[in-house]
Amino acid sequence: MGVFEDSVNTFLAVVKPYLDDDAVSEVLCNGPQEIFIEKRGLLEKVPVQFKDEQALQAAVRNIAQFVGRTVDEDNPILDARLPDGSRVAAVLPPCSRKGTTLSIRKFSKGSPSFVDLINRGSISKEAARFLDVCIYLAKNLIISGGTGSGKTTLLNVLGSRIPGTQRLLIIEDASELKIKTDHVVYMETKHPDAFGKGAVTIRDLIKSALRLRPDRIVVGEVRGSEAMDLVTAMNTGHGGSMGTTHANTPYDALVRLETLAMMGDSNVPVAAIRRQISAAIHMVVQIKRLDDGSRKITAISEVLPEVDEQGRYSIRDIFRFVQRGKTPEGKIVGEFVPTGYIPTFMHEIEINRLPFPRERFNPPDWYKAQMAREESQTKKLGGGHGSGHAA
Ligand SMILES: Nc1ncnc2c1ncn2[C@@H]1O[C@H](COP(=O)(O)OP(=O)(O)OP(=O)(O)O)[C@@H](O)[C@H]1O
Ligand SMILES: [Mg+2]
Repeated sequence: MGVFEDSVNTFLAVVKPYLDDDAVSEVLCNGPQEIFIEKRGLLEKVPVQFKDEQALQAAVRNIAQFVGRTVDEDNPILDARLPDGSRVAAVLPPCSRKGTTLSIRKFSKGSPSFVDLINRGSISKEAARFLDVCIYLAKNLIISGGTGSGKTTLLNVLGSRIPGTQRLLIIEDASELKIKTDHVVYMETKHPDAFGKGAVTIRDLIKSALRLRPDRIVVGEVRGSEAMDLVTAMNTGHGGSMGTTHANTPYDALVRLETLAMMGDSNVPVAAIRRQISAAIHMVVQIKRLDDGSRKITAISEVLPEVDEQGRYSIRDIFRFVQRGKTPEGKIVGEFVPTGYIPTFMHEIEINRLPFPRERFNPPDWYKAQMAREESQTKKLGGGHGSGHAA
């Protein structure tokens, strides 16, 4: 680490104050002259600059060298993880037109717990308890959200709730997760060498993971054809498996997995893939970065193991975040509410004597009134097929 710190001091000296500031989560350079930081969830431009494009490129080259990679005109893209866990992404000219684009996502010190997420207003106590129940009951779960919405952070929190008696296999592109549980094995993909040989993909790792007696499999980010392998693993007795994916609603998350799964095996008919996905995935947890910079879980939804004649998934929101206003400072104010829908696995909650009684799914009166109003409006407009595509 010492060596790396030296090179930060030399090559990244202009942005070092921000790298050292705990309130800053990301440093973004759009060419040498335009630098932004993300502080408490919001972006701001900062009054520092690299001397010139060469200086910025030297910094990126140095980082690349440090992690054993090369960046130059022929290899203008870098995606790497630093020894301290920070994630660095860079694109060099000619692909980046304004000069080198660099993003450093700092590794947040100490991974948060459910209590931290509750205190930050990212989730309510009740909704967190419900997710705990889902983890205990080994429900297969997908965390869905946009870039930087907090998917990985949430996966860390949920993963750490897995009972310590179970063996957990974690598969990632660039190791990022730090799940606190007793029995966990970490695996990471491998880049090909200079001759394009020796690559190990997420698909390869899921296949070998299945031979390593996992109870549960966690895939850090599903963004390729491995979606099919994860779904298959979930369908074949690795209950309680998890992954994250980029999507804006729970419904879109399933569609995205479907698209990814088809990339790998286009011989499987789409109807079959949909059936497998709806059978494999029990829950989708949607997380969002809101306008005020906060991250919130906006929906916790159950996926029913059925698709209709049009091939649509059946999704039911169990909890939702409902915005109720904004403070004069622009902070979003709202509540996490149960929608009144009782999950199909309620009997499992009861026979396992889990402390989550039915009444907890009752929505507050104001929410019921709001829903009734919305329903009558939809009726008036003559629309709405009520398929539960909520955000
Ligand atoms: N609940 C939260 N409240 C406030 N900040 C959060 C929360 N969750 C994550 N963050 C911060 O948001 C940033 C992005 O988090 P994270 O890496 O978990 O997102 P991600 O969705 O996995 O991103 P990517 O799409 O790049 O993989 C980090 O700086 C993290 O510290
Ligand atoms: Mg992530």
